[in-house]
Amino acid sequence: MKVAIASDHGGITIRKEIISLMDEMNIEYIDLGCECEASVDYPDYAIPVAEKVVTGEVNRGILICGTGIGMSIAANKVKGVRCALVHDMFSAKATREHNDSNILAMGERVIGPGLARDIAKIWLTTSFEGGRHANRVNKVAAYEKISI
Ligand code: RB5
Repeated sequence: MKVAIASDHGGITIRKEIISLMDEMNIEYIDLGCECEASVDYPDYAIPVAEKVVTGEVNRGILICGTGIGMSIAANKVKGVRCALVHDMFSAKATREHNDSNILAMGERVIGPGLARDIAKIWLTTSFEGGRHANRVNKVAAYEKISI
């Protein structure tokens, strides 16, 4: 598995925590910044990660900002992205099993690095269940193809 990860200035600590987790798990990743603590704009980080996911350059993406909301909104504008904003362990597992989410968004002003690490670990290691859930995911994809 290969992962693209990025944060804005509001998510640097958790981004570093998840990078250290991926090092421990021997997961290959591309770190797309941000490189400084100055204020930056989350779409400039969410969209490049999302594009890498839908083009297949990477399998999954992880995005962190202050709330995770801006990152998830921006990432979900890219067709083929299923970005889940997650701040608890139950949803981290469920969104992989049921939604086949391909991007995880979290907010560093909402949760701490310890919980973010645990969420990322379960999200990275849980498989999609398919079956009836695949029908639902396919309906969203079908709408994307005809949407204005
Ligand atoms: C930046 O101040 C903040 O707006 C951003 O990190 C994020 O929370 C947006 O959704």
